Amino acid sequence: MKKTFVVANWKMNPLTLEEAKQLFNAVEGGMEGLKNSEVVICPPFVYLSAFKPQALELKLGAQNCYSQEKGAFTGEISPNMLKDLGCQYVIIGHSERRKYQKETDEIVNEKIKAALKANLKPILCIDNIDQIKKDLEDLSQQDLENLMVAYEPIWAIGTGKACGIPEAKETNLSVKEILGENIPTLYGGSVNSQNAEGYIKEAGFQGLLIGGASLKPEEFIEIIRRVDLI
Ligand code: PGA
Repeated sequence: MKKTFVVANWKMNPLTLEEAKQLFNAVEGGMEGLKNSEVVICPPFVYLSAFKPQALELKLGAQNCYSQEKGAFTGEISPNMLKDLGCQYVIIGHSERRKYQKETDEIVNEKIKAALKANLKPILCIDNIDQIKKDLEDLSQQDLENLMVAYEPIWAIGTGKACGIPEAKETNLSVKEILGENIPTLYGGSVNSQNAEGYIKEAGFQGLLIGGASLKPEEFIEIIRRVDLI
């Protein structure tokens, strides 16, 4: 049975370390008895060193990394630093970074390569199929098997207008046609406890990438529980 991945993208929240710890502990406390899930919390960089997951099913991820290992890059964070802090995953190419930080497909491609080199598992976010070829250019089959792809239609992010299941399913199938069946695909965009199951059961995704609902521990735990045994 394949694992289901539930990834929390906290974005630039919460505002204090104390609140971040409370949120992390609340989620970890609600994970007892999970059978088949891997939950990944991606907090802002500055909170990463405060979190040491105890539950086996809980992993740490980051929301971004730089494309170089080290050197004179003021303000940037190396994938190797993230690895050293216990991260196993890193979100790359989120549409908010493409929009506000002007990240291009070339930059995303460099970051994916740097993350893989540091032994992090990239979670590549795409909003359309065309991005896949550009973002994953020059990657070996082995590299491809070490990443995940999250389909996140821009209009569905943070809007409460989640993508319809048939449309999400169609994109999922197109991603799998290009990359093969073994690469885990996630859906993201206004996921909540009411719509979560459909993306796994009907649209065939292997996981979810969750923004807003991941900041509400009860709702987030409810999502994890609903998709745990599908
Ligand atoms: P949302 O965000 O769940 O708040 O729509 C998803 C994301 O941006 O990853």
